[in-house]
Amino acid sequence: MNHFDYRGGVLHAEEVAIPEIAAAVGTPVYVYSTATLLRHFQVFAGAVPEGSLVAYAVKANGNLAVIRTLAGAGAGADVVSEGELRRALAGGVAPEKIVFSGVGKTEAELAFAVETGIYQINVESEPELEALSRVAAAKGAVAAIAIRVNPDVDARTHAKISTGKGENKFGVPIDRMPELAARCAELPGVALKGIAVHIGSQITDLAPLEAAYLRVLGMIETLRAGGHAIERADLGGGLGVPYVMNDPHPPLPDDYGAMVRRISAGKNLRLAFEPGRLIVANAGILVARAVYVKRGASRDFLVLDAGMNDLIRPAMYEAHHDIVPVVRHGRPEQAYDVVGPVCETGDTFARGRVLDGFKAGELAAILTAGAYGAAQASEYNARPLVPEVLVNGADWSVIRARPSYEEMLARDRLPAWLG
Ligand code: LLP
Repeated sequence: MNHFDYRGGVLHAEEVAIPEIAAAVGTPVYVYSTATLLRHFQVFAGAVPEGSLVAYAVKANGNLAVIRTLAGAGAGADVVSEGELRRALAGGVAPEKIVFSGVGKTEAELAFAVETGIYQINVESEPELEALSRVAAAKGAVAAIAIRVNPDVDARTHAKISTGKGENKFGVPIDRMPELAARCAELPGVALKGIAVHIGSQITDLAPLEAAYLRVLGMIETLRAGGHAIERADLGGGLGVPYVMNDPHPPLPDDYGAMVRRISAGKNLRLAFEPGRLIVANAGILVARAVYVKRGASRDFLVLDAGMNDLIRPAMYEAHHDIVPVVRHGRPEQAYDVVGPVCETGDTFARGRVLDGFKAGELAAILTAGAYGAAQASEYNARPLVPEVLVNGADWSVIRARPSYEEMLARDRLPAWLG
């Protein structure tokens, strides 16, 4: 469910006509809906057991205005770098609602997290545990931690976003957990509170999630029997979203919440969740303009002014994004390869996509682009970083401006020997 709808044949975000934003800000531009962000957060938070921490995965969309919108609704934050931690704090997320995940946190990042006094640091290896202990003990602090385990479960999603198989770099093999818990008990500066798990992203089947969670719950029983006071379980993110209109929906947050309630009831655990995509994906679109409609040898190309540097998901994960005209003209349908201007064949948003006939100069919207869109954008081909707009009812505002060419050039420095 989202708040992008046609009114009189023109695509709107809430009350705002998309062409109005495109005319004022230029294209390409990301447009987000506040109402959709809030709705997704509220639906998820309402589906999981009461009292759980819902820590929005900032990596999906780290714009300060997005974080602040969600923080205002009660969201915590799951962060994976000092940069994201600083963003979460600047976005108004209370430290006691922040979880720090990630396989390669540096000592400097751990030190900043300890100073900030966040809810939980999810430790992913023995060497990280030793480093955190040193860092925290040196400050006379005790960091609340969870150990992220690798449950060796196949999430059945794209290989590049699968994180819970034994061969993946994430977490500690779950069998080593008793050893690690014993080490935690010896070490200063760390207090083991729980176990964390995250097996992948865009998961459209609850079975692998349930299998992973059952392993975690089983291990918590083992640890408790061994005298460890485990009081938390962080069940990660990963629940998928519908990318294809009219396709069977992935499990809804309510289905997911029911599964979690069923298996965690009576376990006396405070749960945490780290949803990213589920909150923001369908709350954002990428608006682009058709530069040319080009006839190739065997196909027609719709050449947009957005490229793989603005939205890399199709190039990187063979991801499908629905594409629609911003203004419906009702022309006969036609098949297009929808491409960007970047000098790589991978700069293709869709192949053989049947759309209403397009003319140069018209606007297209690439849907479900709020998650891992702007967050993974770059300036490849010296294209200015794509701007972002947030709509709220009839109001809208630029929440990240397109840099000027002067600003882009000014970031480089010429060494003295080049004059
Ligand atoms: N927690 C941890 C530890 C994670 O690594 C991730 C995502 C999340 C939570 C949030 O997962 P979500 O609920 O968004 O599925 N760029 C890729 C997705 C990468 C996901 C990385 N980790 C894409 O565009 O599909």
